[in-house]
Amino acid sequence: MEIKSAEFVISNTDVKKCPDKGLPEYAFIGRSNVGKSSLINMLTNRRGLAMTSSKPGKTLLINHFIINDNWYLVDLPGYGYATAGKSMRGKLKNIIESYILYRDELTCLFVLIDCRIEPQQIDIEFMEWLGENSIPFSIVFTKIDKLSKSKLSENLKAYRDKLFETWEELPPIFITSSEKGQGREELLGYIDEINKSL
Ligand code: GTP
Ligand code: MG
Repeated sequence: MEIKSAEFVISNTDVKKCPDKGLPEYAFIGRSNVGKSSLINMLTNRRGLAMTSSKPGKTLLINHFIINDNWYLVDLPGYGYATAGKSMRGKLKNIIESYILYRDELTCLFVLIDCRIEPQQIDIEFMEWLGENSIPFSIVFTKIDKLSKSKLSENLKAYRDKLFETWEELPPIFITSSEKGQGREELLGYIDEINKSL
């Protein structure tokens, strides 16, 4: 799919104030610093469209970007931001959960996982919560440029094995590097197919 246009629309803390055009949207979630905002910039080929930082806790709002004038990419705050205070964490949790549960336009949620680290309870539990609430999601491994091929396949296998402890079937899985552009065609192709099927 060709990205002809990609523009920032609005930032919100309240799901009720999100755009009301009824267009399908695809959102990115995952632990703080996993690379959600970087992935949006990589997919759209627009450096600086979504704000990124080497420090966790950069994205604190629901951010809508309109693509080709007919669908949205949505950048969300990260979860598990350890150094944030308790009330801040509670606020972010609220924003994320209400967006995921009540946003009818949410067509697929991409759960981002850093390919370098072993399966984390917070991610595993988050995906179980998605399952319990019948939220369609896919898994996106990020930062694959940071691992050798053999280490990457070892980690991916370990992750699949872990998921198979609780899931009978796995969702689609993508492997990406925002640094090198890997996985871009696959992810955009996947979104394009869903858009065409709607
Ligand atoms: P929050 O908004 O804080 O939740 O973080 P985020 O998930 O949006 O992460 P962000 O995109 O801001 O990236 C965090 C850091 O990881 C930045 O320093 C990025 O440059 C780096 N990063 C993101 N994706 C990649 C990648 O694919 N490869 C490499 N090497 N670095 C990456
Ligand atoms: Mg971010």
